[in-house]
Amino acid sequence: MSPIGTIPARSDTSDAVSHPDAHEEVSLDPSAFRRTFRVAALRLPAKYCNSAVKQLQPHLLRLRHVKGIVKPEDGGDTHRLLLLATEVNEQHEDTAVELTDLPDDVKTFVHATNAQEDPTPAAEAEPPCSRVSLTTHQVHLDYASFSAEEVLRQVFAPLRLEAPTSFETVDHVAHLNLRDAHLPYKRLIAQVILDKNAPRIRTVVNKLGSIQTQYRTFPLEVLAGESDLNVSVREAGATFRFNFAEVYWNSRLSTEHARLVNAVVAHFHASRPRVPLASCVVWDVFAGVGPFAIPLGLRGCVVHANDLNPRSHHYLVDNIARNKVGAYVTPYNRDGRDFLRERARQHQPVDHIIMNLPATALEFLDTFAAEREETAGEEEGRSRGLFDYLEARPIVHAYCFSKAEDPTAEALARASAILGCVLVNGKNGVSVHRVRDVAPKKEMLCLSFPLPRHCEFNFSRKRAMESEREKEGREDTVDMVQKRSKGVGDGT
Ligand SMILES: C[S@@+](CC[C@H](N)C(=O)[O-])C[C@H]1O[C@@H](n2cnc3c(N)ncnc32)[C@H](O)[C@@H]1O
Repeated sequence: MSPIGTIPARSDTSDAVSHPDAHEEVSLDPSAFRRTFRVAALRLPAKYCNSAVKQLQPHLLRLRHVKGIVKPEDGGDTHRLLLLATEVNEQHEDTAVELTDLPDDVKTFVHATNAQEDPTPAAEAEPPCSRVSLTTHQVHLDYASFSAEEVLRQVFAPLRLEAPTSFETVDHVAHLNLRDAHLPYKRLIAQVILDKNAPRIRTVVNKLGSIQTQYRTFPLEVLAGESDLNVSVREAGATFRFNFAEVYWNSRLSTEHARLVNAVVAHFHASRPRVPLASCVVWDVFAGVGPFAIPLGLRGCVVHANDLNPRSHHYLVDNIARNKVGAYVTPYNRDGRDFLRERARQHQPVDHIIMNLPATALEFLDTFAAEREETAGEEEGRSRGLFDYLEARPIVHAYCFSKAEDPTAEALARASAILGCVLVNGKNGVSVHRVRDVAPKKEMLCLSFPLPRHCEFNFSRKRAMESEREKEGREDTVDMVQKRSKGVGDGT
């Protein structure tokens, strides 16, 4: 006899996969998962089932689609078989199961129950020793008995490959990011995921290549199920509808979306107590389909939400209507720099500026600094900046990636070099939030800082700061300025 884990082990599952030839699809044979085996069982009056289940939890047979309590073939309605996670050698089917072979908890339960005195007349007719007895029961498993993870493990173990069991879901779409070694088995993997997660999952896709496009979308291949990528997702009390192939969406950012929305609201309440939230104005420069903009609108903030991708804009407009935040959220379809300049030229007030395009958002910071060059010509240090009309400094929340040893220092140095001022973590309202690891040694961060005043964008001041930093032996900012002037950016 041997204890059973979640799946009774098969000696060989290589017959589950056929490999007709190198160029044909690899297919799965569900019949290869059929299996019959025998387990130990307690035969007991139905009235003892509840207490037995409570007391013997760790020793009970728990398999997907296999009932743990069954009626004995001979027992009518009065008795049940409680199946135990102890496999009995099929060859010795007729051999009585010995109590000594079973775990101590089971022995104790059988002895204690049978020793109980039962004063009912029915019990008198039935000798105490017959109340709980040991027997065996045959269990049948097939493809339906196993989870996707279990099937894939059984398929890939003989191939000496790790089973690809993790995937992201966006509504009814399961989204895989398969490694090269798994590509010959991509349809098999997708079919198993579809079979085991239906009806919740109706479509399984694989990401082809990494995000390199301007709109941060990636090519997808539908591997199994319907070719329908129109999804509806709930996040932060809002509904977002979009086509998964046409726009950027990442469910892993839901915590970050919520964090920033809460931070914006909390900052506004702290800095302008008793002023209604409808006076809080946010510009979302790279808004996507609205995961910052719409929840902020639902909270009562005024949001100007922009995205260059016409399809993102289309869904943003639709989501604004769907969530009934048209009075709060206004959509734009511009390049981020043009959007910032347009808003500033109209002398529009703003409290927070969100820039979530981590691959290049820091480069857009030159919009705040560069404008002073266009308007320069007055006394140096007094040139007029595009954002000088603002009395209070808006808080910029700029996302970026960093592969550096010290991501916080590197990201701040890069932003400082582009802005022409020094941002120091923890000083003058500057803070850095480390969002998540996007790849080994590649982090996503959010830099939050009050937009520097025009005098801080001054060239001579910038040069002075650079030489100060040089003197201190901290040349990273200068490096970044030089790299930038040579056109070297973060290529991610
Ligand atoms: C990383 S996504 C973030 C979307 C959304 N904020 C979110 O959190 O899911 C960046 C967005 O910036 C948009 N984008 C890319 N380049 C842009 C540009 N030059 N101007 C404005 N939007 C741009 C993309 O279309 C994409 O929707």
